[in-house]
Amino acid sequence: MKIIKTTKELIEAVNEVKKTKTIGLVPTMGALHGGHLSLIKKSVNDNDFTIVSDFVNPTQFGPNEDYERYPRTLEEDAKLCKDAGCDILFAPSPDEMYSNMKDTTLVCPSYNDVSKLCGKSRPGHFDGVATIVSKLFNLAKPNRAYFGQKDAQQLFIIKKMVRDLNFDIEIIGCPIVRESDGLALSSRNRYLNEENRKRALKLSKALFTIKDLYKNGVNSAETLIDTALTILDGEDIDYFEILDLSNFEKIDIINKDCIALCAVRFPQKDGTIRLIDNMVL
Ligand code: PAJ
Repeated sequence: MKIIKTTKELIEAVNEVKKTKTIGLVPTMGALHGGHLSLIKKSVNDNDFTIVSDFVNPTQFGPNEDYERYPRTLEEDAKLCKDAGCDILFAPSPDEMYSNMKDTTLVCPSYNDVSKLCGKSRPGHFDGVATIVSKLFNLAKPNRAYFGQKDAQQLFIIKKMVRDLNFDIEIIGCPIVRESDGLALSSRNRYLNEENRKRALKLSKALFTIKDLYKNGVNSAETLIDTALTILDGEDIDYFEILDLSNFEKIDIINKDCIALCAVRFPQKDGTIRLIDNMVL
């Protein structure tokens, strides 16, 4: 496995590989865990050549968010990527990716898509995501790119961006990997203190509970959301919503594929940790 830190070197390597091989791209911000590894393994399985990007993207963090504190573990990441069969680990610096961050061209998803859920509480976040993912698509020229269902709104927005901007890339959504007790794996979990690690279980508990209720015939979104909010009672809930999976619009009576999504903040002495989770009903 080669570790590449410059865009020039990546373009050269890709131009060579592209002649004979299919390329899979797995964009990440590093601090890799089993969720990321499931994407990397799927790419290795589906393609001749796999590129993993490892870049904490500054343009997707708001001014009061955890950009500085976000975990950076390149050495461990490189070992995990190598063992998983990755061919190139692309780990550029912010200056390498953005020559002038404050004056850069942005790719902005539609207002309708960014004005809800995570986009509502993190203004500008999805502009940063769509911009860096577009840049990575142009650099790695993948046939397929892999994203987790864990970040469901991100996956929805990227799929739409690929359609709207005519990227010739297949987007593969991959299932959420969870701890044995239900907590969705996340790079931010490592910062949870013992008490909040326990309380964080309420997210998956709320989702599993309403999925069961739905399976047993409850199809009113309001009833399901009320049940979830009772389980999450006492927590700092950013949102809990049930949306139509096909367009991410609100739905009252569930009569087609829907997704329940939530975000909860856990304040701690050393800064607030915001966790997200979701489940297709
Ligand atoms: P990051 O949070 O590092 O996640 C990288 C990819 O791993 C995303 O597609 C995410 O959905 C997926 N992932 C994270 N946790 C997962 C889990 N428990 N199960 C399955 N997949 C999981 O998402 C980003 O980085 C960034 O926004 C990025 C797309 C790289 C752009 O900077």
